[in-house]
Amino acid sequence: MTHRFSRDFIDSLLAKVDIVELIDHRVTLKKSGNNYAACCPFHTEKTPSFTVSPQKQFYHCFGCSAHGNAIGFLMAYDRLEFADAIEELANITGVPIPQETITASYKPQVPYYQLLEQVTNYYHSQLKRSPKASYYLNKRGLSSEIISRFRIGYAPGGWTHLLQQFGKSSSVETQLIETGMVIRSKEGKLFDRFHDRIMIPIRNSKGQIIGFGGRSLGVETPKYLNSPETVLFHKGRELYGLYELKQSHQKIESILVVEGYMDVIALQQYGIAQVVATLGTATTAQHLQHLFRLAPEIIFCFDGDSAGQQAAWRALETCLPNLRDGLQIRFMFLPNNEDPDSLIRKQGLNGFKQYMAQATALADFFFARLSAQTNLNNLDGKAKLAKFGRDYLNKIRNGVFQELMLEKLASLVGTSSATLNTIRLNEIPLRTVATPNSSQPKIVSPIQLAIALILQSPGIVQETLIPEKLSNIKLPGVPTLQKLLELLKANPQLSCGHLLEYFRGHKVATQLAKLAVVELLIPPSAEQLGSALHKIIQLQQEAQIQQLLNKGNHEGNLSIQEKEILRNLLKERHTQ
Ligand code: CTP
Ligand code: MN
Repeated sequence: MTHRFSRDFIDSLLAKVDIVELIDHRVTLKKSGNNYAACCPFHTEKTPSFTVSPQKQFYHCFGCSAHGNAIGFLMAYDRLEFADAIEELANITGVPIPQETITASYKPQVPYYQLLEQVTNYYHSQLKRSPKASYYLNKRGLSSEIISRFRIGYAPGGWTHLLQQFGKSSSVETQLIETGMVIRSKEGKLFDRFHDRIMIPIRNSKGQIIGFGGRSLGVETPKYLNSPETVLFHKGRELYGLYELKQSHQKIESILVVEGYMDVIALQQYGIAQVVATLGTATTAQHLQHLFRLAPEIIFCFDGDSAGQQAAWRALETCLPNLRDGLQIRFMFLPNNEDPDSLIRKQGLNGFKQYMAQATALADFFFARLSAQTNLNNLDGKAKLAKFGRDYLNKIRNGVFQELMLEKLASLVGTSSATLNTIRLNEIPLRTVATPNSSQPKIVSPIQLAIALILQSPGIVQETLIPEKLSNIKLPGVPTLQKLLELLKANPQLSCGHLLEYFRGHKVATQLAKLAVVELLIPPSAEQLGSALHKIIQLQQEAQIQQLLNKGNHEGNLSIQEKEILRNLLKERHTQ
């Protein structure tokens, strides 16, 4: 895919992001010398061979050779397209995406967003024309202000409203199908997906409409009909209410996660601005990562019944690997037969806030449920709890929180956390970096050495005198070397990961990544680089000498000029 982000913009992102922090947010990293190490997230392994270098701003796995900079990591780990990885980095670093780039790089999707925007307006206008839809919303207590804020509308009964309204051209017809608004029947007939439903537009975090939830007005099933997964809409990634939450621009201490559209809408109407809903799916790691970027605490709201408890446990399982020290998760359980919508309407804002204040901390919920499932009166039960609990707690990244949880577990089963810890250490491989295996590339030429030195320690370029003759050299690899030197001359701050970004998609990219991690016998220095560059020039001269000698031998007729060059070259070789 060709992209249109400017080099300056990508440079400013990479200069601002810290790859260690970025990766640590997703994979537990442990300090190991100058680097950080972990078990590789890209292949299964028991001993860590995945390393992240803060100096190089680059990651590399000695086991599977996965490698890259911050952009590459997001593409590989979060499975993002290049443009989305850039957008994600822009979000994280707070570097605004230049306006002209947004429209250019997202051009293919612009018509879809525009169309859904128009559809939203159409549905909203239909609401005023339908007394029964207005009556329904009124009966449910939605104020007209909240109806406008959430852009709620109505899809009239009938089968071809959207096609009549928008589908004049075949391209719009295709867009209606691709956004899930219109369905093609087996017989090839086209008809609207939504009819006679309250339409709740779903916005992405930027406020663009990406899909709809359609609520039936009465008892018709299904109660909710939602947009399918489309190019714009991915349930596992999106959260209902996120855009509105971001709009509040307040410091967000805590985000409440509820289950339903109507819950978000009611809570917002009553003044709880920091609330989102999953879209009929369980909470995903992607959801959590997004939420934790916005606030240090998440409160999950579930029904008080056993289904709610089970759902809470599932959420807890997703949360454990995503927890870090300083982040908090709590669970709020609702009274029987209430959902947040009904509860806040009955209890008011303050009543609801009291329930929120009583939310159970993750640790308490965890131990209460574990204890309830095992018999702590006998040794067998305790051993089971120890093993079961420990397996869960090992999913938390190492840190104070994990230690505290292990201590609590130890005291519950009547042992010391040291004992639990020893079992843990026996089972988990020690987190040391695996010795590089034989697939390590070998440096065979001074050109490779020079490139490796530069990539591994870009700073030395500033202290090295770059021979002028280098620019005339035509040997393979030298153009790449020259490009690197040029980049560093223009911007001495570039890190290794940053330099490699200039070669994304280039045929030398993989080779460069290998050189970026090849083990060098002596630490890089300006002297080493200087002597490598000198050797390259010698190499070139040697090649020229050989060529001229060959020509002389075989053809016996070097021109006067050639003879002169050869003489000079030989003289130079002699003095070197
Ligand atoms: N849901 C769905 N499809 C259904 C039922 C539910 O997608 N057939 C999703 C919707 O996102 C819904 C959420 O699950 O908002 C919670 O469902 P539920 O509690 O049944 O709905 P409420 O949000 O409480 O809606 P209402 O108050 O209108 O009944
Ligand atoms: Mn409800």
